[in-house]
Amino acid sequence: MKLQSFVVTIALLLQLSMVGGQTLCNRSLVSEWKTQPTVHTVKWSLSQDICSSFFTECWNIDPYHGSSTAGNVPLRLSQICPLQLQLGDLLFVSPEPSFQSYGMNLANVSLEGFIRCPQPRDVHRHQLLFDHGLSGMRQIAPKWLGVGTHYFAEVPIRGPLLCHFGLRLNVTVKSQACQKFSNSTFCSGHGKCLSRIWDGAYHCHCSHPYSGQFCQEIDKCSSKPCHNSGSCISRKSQREDVEDSYECICPASFTEYEIFSGAQRLAEELAVESIKIIEVEAAIGALYLFNPVARNWTKAKEFCETEKSTLVCIESTLEEMFVTREIAKHPKDFWMGHNYYNDKWECNGIETKIAYWSVATVTNYFKDRCTILLSRCLTTPNCWTNVDCSLDYFTICERKPDNKWHVENAAPVSKL
Ligand SMILES: *[C@@H]1O[C@H](CO)[C@@H](O)[C@H](O)[C@H]1NC(C)=O
Ligand SMILES: *[C@@H]1O[C@H](CO)[C@@H](O)[C@H](O)[C@H]1NC(C)=O
Ligand SMILES: *[C@@H]1O[C@H](CO)[C@@H](O)[C@H](O)[C@H]1NC(C)=O
Ligand SMILES: *[C@@H]1O[C@H](CO)[C@@H](O)[C@H](O)[C@H]1NC(C)=O
Ligand SMILES: *[C@@H]1O[C@H](CO)[C@@H](O)[C@H](O)[C@H]1NC(C)=O
Repeated sequence: MKLQSFVVTIALLLQLSMVGGQTLCNRSLVSEWKTQPTVHTVKWSLSQDICSSFFTECWNIDPYHGSSTAGNVPLRLSQICPLQLQLGDLLFVSPEPSFQSYGMNLANVSLEGFIRCPQPRDVHRHQLLFDHGLSGMRQIAPKWLGVGTHYFAEVPIRGPLLCHFGLRLNVTVKSQACQKFSNSTFCSGHGKCLSRIWDGAYHCHCSHPYSGQFCQEIDKCSSKPCHNSGSCISRKSQREDVEDSYECICPASFTEYEIFSGAQRLAEELAVESIKIIEVEAAIGALYLFNPVARNWTKAKEFCETEKSTLVCIESTLEEMFVTREIAKHPKDFWMGHNYYNDKWECNGIETKIAYWSVATVTNYFKDRCTILLSRCLTTPNCWTNVDCSLDYFTICERKPDNKWHVENAAPVSKL
């Protein structure tokens, strides 16, 4: 063995002996767009910041907790802690000093190349990041850091292939869509420009009552313009030059509905005094319409509006139990009004404080923003699931009484 390769091998063994232990990569689930570019430096070394388990180490998130998997295949491979950058950020690579002697370069590779680690003979010149190999701290040229996910792998010039041991890097570059023009204020000053870990870009998250891509719109109903218990429905204008408007819907008399109120009966079943329940649990003093026609969430919401009501908002355990019992016999699940909007669960503009998820945590609440109540629920009272709003389910509409609820009205008036 020649002296040089002997030294290389020893240095390598030393390096490898330092690999191990669990590296938890530094992460935040949500990041805010920075107006100035950031300088990032990646240590190109096997002795630190090498992770292998996709979720628990590299992304430092519990895959079963909250954050969705968003189509990621959780590959188990050793790699340098993956990076996420803003478009325009600067990225430097700082190699382990002992790597100088082996001579190595970085290659821009495909996902497959990243997983398999390319042999030097399979790497073309045009994939190499540095003209004369990686010596000392070097900047990765911006042309390699366009918007999207990039994979860089180690390519040895003389020494052994170390990519398998972790010398490979996943860099995702994100742009922002938070300004209408490059001179506009971010999110019109009414929100934050944020990106969650699996989002492809930064988007506005508007503060109430603003909405729209750049938080440029205001909900006309937020000023509560309707009087005499009328409910307000905002109407989005389809044209740029026409302002949004709203409509006040006047309360109608209960008999106009195909309704079902089970408050009295539920009270009897639960052997509690109905009057007390009705007073304490105002939510039960409402009228419910269970409509077994399958439609998407938007259509269900519109349907309730034409019925002069709203999609049901569950506000108490008693109400949850009442509604789940009513739908237990149905073959399909039912839409509720709770939806994920502006970073929180809300129902008709009111933040959802108590939730009854059927599973411990909600998955993918960025895509599956609407909620259904399970009709064949085995985990009462926890019968909620969040789903894609474009799917079709039955509908539960609810209407609160305009005046204080009278006990006489609490008797079932079913016409189901
Ligand atoms: C982790 O990242 C945050 C910002 O993203 C930074 O402020 C903090 O210093 C980092 N911690 C370590 C140990 O690198
Ligand atoms: C980097 O590699 C990917 C995958 O092979 C390729 O699509 C991309 O164009 C390459 N980037 C540059 C700047 O050559
Ligand atoms: C690379 O990182 C992105 C997120 O920035 C992730 O979605 C992707 O699955 C990662 N790729 C691999 C092979 O781990
Ligand atoms: C911002 O840019 C737009 C289009 O580039 C231009 O029409 C507008 O006048 C600019 N506004 C200011 C305040 O510079
Ligand atoms: C619901 O269906 C209507 C047309 O039937 C469609 O315009 C609307 O976008 C759909 N909503 C969702 C959330 O998919």
